Amino acid sequence: MKEISGALNILLADMFVLYLKTKNFHWHVSGPHFRDYHLLLDEQSAQIFATTDDVAERARKVGGTTLSSIGHIARLQRVLDNDADFVTPQDMLAELHDDTKQLVAHMRVTHGICEEHGDCATTSFLENWIDDAERRVWFLFEASGARAERRAAHPLSAVGRGEPERTPEEIGPRPQVATQSTAPIMFAGTNRVGDIARAPATSPLSCRGKTTKRASMTNMKP
Ligand SMILES: [Fe+2]
Repeated sequence: MKEISGALNILLADMFVLYLKTKNFHWHVSGPHFRDYHLLLDEQSAQIFATTDDVAERARKVGGTTLSSIGHIARLQRVLDNDADFVTPQDMLAELHDDTKQLVAHMRVTHGICEEHGDCATTSFLENWIDDAERRVWFLFEASGARAERRAAHPLSAVGRGEPERTPEEIGPRPQVATQSTAPIMFAGTNRVGDIARAPATSPLSCRGKTTKRASMTNMKP
């Protein structure tokens, strides 16, 4: 069980570092998207902080001790601090994205340790923490604009071919969707949230009439 509490304490140290880094960026972010990023980072820091107590208490429940000071965190942390005077918003999002991905990887390793010891309770906690962290990775990835950049660089993209981006008027109307079809609407050339919201109740994209748990974020691997 010492192996489990030891692994949990390293995770906990990383989470405190990531929490403070996220708060640091929340306080210091600037630019035209200030409000969006400021709020996103506050939301994420709150989620990380809320998890820390569960991590520490799992370490105690399995018979170990847990963190006792900032110095203790500094001795265990794998996530690096960022004390730069100025960080661009894009670099903030990219750094948090990479740190959180690393955290997920370490959680998976800890999950394996818990499984080896038959600690199903910590395993179960970790599955939720991984899901939460993957959601944060997803949001950071999309907010950073990395997908748009990747799309623009794609050889089939007009922008990637060096052609000017066309306006919606130049592109013309989008293909019509057969409203009663059960075929995935995404394949009909629509991929906007509004299209999903308008999807008929019989469509696999529709949430109407169903009690949905959290959307399948864990299946998204940006
Ligand atoms: Fe704040």
